[in-house]
Amino acid sequence: MKLCALLGITYPIVQGGMIWASGPALAAAVSNAGGLGLLGSGSMTPESFTAALVETRRLTDRPFGVNVPLLYSHAGEVLDLALAAGVRLFFTSAGNPAKTTPRLKAAGATVVHVVSTPRLAKKCQDCGCDAVVAEGFEAGGHNGRDELTTLVLVPQVVDAVTIPVLAAGGIGDGRGLAAALSLGASGVQLGSRFAACRESGLHERFKQAIVAAAPEDTRLILRKLVPVRCLRNAFVERILQAEERGASGEELLTLLGRQRSRLGMLEGELEEGELEIGQISGLLRDLPTAGEIVTALVRDYERVRGSLPVLHA
Ligand SMILES: Cc1cc2nc3c(=O)[nH]c(=O)nc-3n(C[C@H](O)[C@H](O)[C@H](O)COP(=O)(O)O)c2cc1C
Repeated sequence: MKLCALLGITYPIVQGGMIWASGPALAAAVSNAGGLGLLGSGSMTPESFTAALVETRRLTDRPFGVNVPLLYSHAGEVLDLALAAGVRLFFTSAGNPAKTTPRLKAAGATVVHVVSTPRLAKKCQDCGCDAVVAEGFEAGGHNGRDELTTLVLVPQVVDAVTIPVLAAGGIGDGRGLAAALSLGASGVQLGSRFAACRESGLHERFKQAIVAAAPEDTRLILRKLVPVRCLRNAFVERILQAEERGASGEELLTLLGRQRSRLGMLEGELEEGELEIGQISGLLRDLPTAGEIVTALVRDYERVRGSLPVLHA
């Protein structure tokens, strides 16, 4: 497959970059299993990012990539550090790819950007991206403003560009993988499924909350600022109530405060922390290893592919 050749992997399965969750242990485990692991730099300082790169290289000799959410103030510094350290595979997100892609391409890197509309996918292609991740409204973490679901978004992105498209948002098993490839995607990026696994860096209490969650337990909050999908808790309820009464962006920022995601996702404060996770958490009932997840995805995909009905008589 073109995408596997582009990324140097066996299976077209990417573990999305995830703040607090995707450190060296997770990224290396996914790459060792034949998928592509991504180091999530969003929750790292430049110093801890450099240490994470060294550790990931110790844990795997397979290709892995770096996710850089462009909205963070230290994104430019992380990109410089990564380039200087020899990283040549970047998944950028949450920002303007036209500002960063030409520089990365000039350094010989492969660049994939996360999009939420066909229009943005076209823009990525025009500024030199090698592939895009089309991420639907179901997804955990930061979300597009247009609220297009994966089922609607992926085929329209596939039609809008000629570069490979990875589908993301709501994929949790081989059925989801088969559905995404049926929509024309060349591969998939999974977040929530890998967030709930043994090598994920999330706090154990948060992992247990994910596998106990019902499908309707997530909410999209902070639409006025940067929309983010989280598990419902006291913090989310407060934000939702404020949004309902038309709170300003400034008031929402005050309610959000600082270090919410660290509090919830790393420190395991389940009521007052921000707990980013997708709608597919309702399907997740176990905490396997990342390697077991990749193996099951491939096995179950093959089963689904072989069991699709023939529609003509
Ligand atoms: C806990 C968590 C943290 C995330 N953090 C990031 C991030 O730092 N950068 C990013 O580009 N996407 C982030 N995402 C989105 C994922 O990379 C991925 O695209 C998304 O989770 C796919 O949808 P799914 O959760 O339905 O699998 C995060 C998702 C989760 C669940």
